[in-house]
Amino acid sequence: MRLDKFLAHTGYGSRKEAKELLKGKQITVNNRLVKDGKIQIDPEKDQVTVSGEVVKFQAFCYFMLHKPQGVISATEDNLHKTVIDLLAPQDRLLHPFPVGRLDKDTEGLLLITNDGKLAHNLLSPKKEVDKCYEAVIEGIVDEADIQAFADGIILDDGFICRSAHLTLTGIDSDKQTSTIQVTIHEGKFHQVKRMFKAVNKKVLYLKRVTMGPLKLDETLALGKYRKLTEVEIELLKSIN
Ligand code: URA
Repeated sequence: MRLDKFLAHTGYGSRKEAKELLKGKQITVNNRLVKDGKIQIDPEKDQVTVSGEVVKFQAFCYFMLHKPQGVISATEDNLHKTVIDLLAPQDRLLHPFPVGRLDKDTEGLLLITNDGKLAHNLLSPKKEVDKCYEAVIEGIVDEADIQAFADGIILDDGFICRSAHLTLTGIDSDKQTSTIQVTIHEGKFHQVKRMFKAVNKKVLYLKRVTMGPLKLDETLALGKYRKLTEVEIELLKSIN
């Protein structure tokens, strides 16, 4: 990896700012003063210091994104903006990817990481990691729907969902819509929309609020993201 990229990634600002540091004779690689940001270093092996301080290299990155509508949960796409396009260039350096998919029109919590093992654990059907969604539904959600979700909805392809906890949180009688919260245990394609379709209802708006122990940080505006805290990372790693 180029030294200036490495510095930008480890929090020493943009490449331009890294250049200033290099010019100011503040950077050493393996105890040798370095002025050229273009040199290649091995972040795992070489020791880099800035103003005498050893720079720690993080092999993994973990971000929580408040996904807005209109972007797709992919790393690249020729037609659409992806969730990775929402990251600052230095946050893309370690090739993070979204853990699972939210539909283009779904908002909410999306974990973005390059930790394949963690992603695998979170997505593995065997782990049955709970996901909680808030939604606006066309029509009035009633006791029969709540019971059907508790009994296990059968999707259009015959898949039987595990018992899902559906809670009615509001009714707009003028618009004839309901607001709900639902917790599901699988991650089938369009699952929430298909579960409501199975009870002849339509999802008008969908937002994911939790994934396992991870909760959406509601202080994040739509389209914004932040690094996970150490506590959040540990909680996610404790899933097994
Ligand atoms: N269920 C859906 O229908 N869509 C999503 O984006 C997530 C879950």
